[in-house]
Amino acid sequence: MIILKSKEEVEKIAVACRMVATALDALKTYIKPGMTTKMLDAYAEEKICEQGGIPAFKGYHRYPATLCVSVNEEVVHGIPSDKLIKEGDIVGLDLGAIYEGFYGDSAVTVAVGEVSDEIQRLLKVTEGSLFAGIDQGREGGRLSDISHAIQAYVEKEGYSVVTDFVGHGIGRSLHEEPQIPNFGPKGQGPRLREGMVLAIEPMVNIGKHQVTVKEDGWTAVSSDGSLSAHFEHTIAITKDGPVVLSQLAA
Ligand code: MF3
Ligand code: CO
Repeated sequence: MIILKSKEEVEKIAVACRMVATALDALKTYIKPGMTTKMLDAYAEEKICEQGGIPAFKGYHRYPATLCVSVNEEVVHGIPSDKLIKEGDIVGLDLGAIYEGFYGDSAVTVAVGEVSDEIQRLLKVTEGSLFAGIDQGREGGRLSDISHAIQAYVEKEGYSVVTDFVGHGIGRSLHEEPQIPNFGPKGQGPRLREGMVLAIEPMVNIGKHQVTVKEDGWTAVSSDGSLSAHFEHTIAITKDGPVVLSQLAA
């Protein structure tokens, strides 16, 4: 069952999302070559807590940290460690917060220093596919219109969408129905309605779509070792179209 949210509930999710967006923004300027991924996690936790939020991922199915940090061929769910960030890396930062019992969830992938045109294109295409999906978040459409738009956008650019992980409804839980695959035909699944709050999160590999989960039980890497990017926003479906909750006003 998809739980529809009242305006008051959407506003609480929006507060959680703004905490996440603020922390991710701060991380984008904080991240430097030579830092460990654990330092990024500590900084993220500080930023969420100083805004009055609660880290959403810590303890979720025993996940041990506040932030997921996925470097280069890591797709999602990288566990913060003593691993060092280097010039030229791409780093996925995935963060969630809880405010008054409601969750917000967002992710970005950032380039550290100079990266090649191809890598910049990977980031642009992945973020572009997220917005192509968000644009389908309209009343009257169907859930799989989002999925289809993401896949079409990515494949037109010659990259692969990861199929083993999906986006999700969000609210009083981090993961609610519906699941939102980043692939599939359009015109299927539930009709989109005001009050739905969705976390849309394409993961895109330069190479093939297959992923492998490492022995830590969390870190997913591209099976062919190709670079991978991940962007995520939490959106609300409204009468006036999709509203991106996890984006700060420009
Ligand atoms: N954005 C990811 C997701 O929605 C982050 C979850 S990490 C976890 O699945 F540790 F909380 F699982
Ligand atoms: Co998510």
